[in-house]
Amino acid sequence: MVVSRRRVVQVLGGVTMASLTGAGKAQFWFAPSLTYPAIKVGNVNNLKNNEPVYFNYPDARSQGILVKLGRPAIGGVGRERDIVAFSAACTHMGCGVQYKGGRFLCPCHYSMFDPAKAAAVYQGLASTGLPQIQLGIAQNGDIFARAVNGLIWGRARNI
Ligand code: FES
Repeated sequence: MVVSRRRVVQVLGGVTMASLTGAGKAQFWFAPSLTYPAIKVGNVNNLKNNEPVYFNYPDARSQGILVKLGRPAIGGVGRERDIVAFSAACTHMGCGVQYKGGRFLCPCHYSMFDPAKAAAVYQGLASTGLPQIQLGIAQNGDIFARAVNGLIWGRARNI
């Protein structure tokens, strides 16, 4: 059966109007917004450039890596916008990535991720970047993990 573009627009318009007016008792399901725990993962005064700090987030089964790059990064926090954190689970098959030589390196099949570019993959078998962990900094310099952008490898949901 061929459905014209006009018919699709008519149907979608009708559904939209029904949902706005309540006509026909149309119900729509929306994904619930997930509330992430805020967990302290470090302090800016204890970080040194290119020395990673490992922590678990959002739960004990998921390792994350916090690193101060010494250069601005996408999603970076701190005075120099250079502090970032990511899930350490490689997006190829879940091996734990390591921070070496200014990049994230997976020891299993050697995928490499750029920490300054939201951990975009630039070499290897992984097809997507590492999920970035959103950070916040308190006035005393404590760094908190607040959420995860993207799905951690092997999970149907992060929390
Ligand atoms: S598990 Fe990381 S590249 Fe395969």
